[in-house]
Amino acid sequence: MTKKVSKAVFPVAGLGTRFLPATKSVPKEILPLVDRPLIQYAIDEARAAGIKEFIFVTSRGKSALEDYFDNAPELEKALADGNKTKLMKTLEQTDMDSGAVAYIRQQERLGLGHAVWCARRLIGDEPFAVILPDDIIEAQKPCLQQMVEAYEETGGNMVAAMEVPHERVSSYGILDVDKPSSRTMKVKNMVEKPSEAEAPSNIAVIGRYILTPHVLKNLDRIKKGAGGEVQLTDAIATEIERKGNVHAFRFKGRRFDCGSQSGYLQATVAFGLARPDLREDFLDFLAGVVENEAPVPAAKAANG
Ligand code: UTP
Repeated sequence: MTKKVSKAVFPVAGLGTRFLPATKSVPKEILPLVDRPLIQYAIDEARAAGIKEFIFVTSRGKSALEDYFDNAPELEKALADGNKTKLMKTLEQTDMDSGAVAYIRQQERLGLGHAVWCARRLIGDEPFAVILPDDIIEAQKPCLQQMVEAYEETGGNMVAAMEVPHERVSSYGILDVDKPSSRTMKVKNMVEKPSEAEAPSNIAVIGRYILTPHVLKNLDRIKKGAGGEVQLTDAIATEIERKGNVHAFRFKGRRFDCGSQSGYLQATVAFGLARPDLREDFLDFLAGVVENEAPVPAAKAANG
């Protein structure tokens, strides 16, 4: 019997530099897809997977995130006074049970592994999930729920995985697995951001994990790895040698890298088209854009 996964860590202490200047004052996780911030999708996915405790690893300048999951008495009163029941209903998705959310500060950005390690005391001695909110996965059954079901069979550690173009492997944690075509694959090795020549495959780790508490112990000892950061990948890889209990799970669904500008735009289009109230107008507009596609006036250079 595997222990139930009831806690999830959301590492959100990054600077989101790829979205500057927007992220100078707005956390990346608050950027919306249509009208829901990225973090809302992550929370909904966690809830669907049975998560009851939500641990955010934040940093300076992220107070908008904390406010998002708090009551907003003035706004709620204004909507109630105006009989805006539909809008009041949309706010319900931001309600969290008292005591279900915890915020921990990562004082120094030392990497994803370090961010997860900062939550160790709240996690304690039980398996836990990690969700990177900028990886948005559109799926019939939410990705973490698929993973929890697979984890009930395997136990141990599990990472979400998908194939990426070979020329992109150096942006990901890359896996060496025993049966690359199966849904659940035993991991033989994993390397963070390898060069194309050194990559053992093009199967990449995506931002969903179910981890054993021993990974936190490994993080106690891990030194900075690729890119001068404490890598979560290295702490999971240690479990391959120690216990051989790391699996990769090929989820069903479409993943958008909303940490990149292009992925974020693609997600905006996909989620806009998925909205019955917007679809028709939006589709007409997009069809017109494609038809009239002409050289666009040089946009003001972004991000240097
Ligand atoms: P990214 O590599 O996407 O970095 O982090 P970032 O700062 O969010 O964005 P860019 O690259 O500057 O545009 C992956 C995830 O790990 C978290 C981030 O918040 C994001 O969810 N992270 C990263 C931390 O919480 N702490 C860190 O020290 C590093």
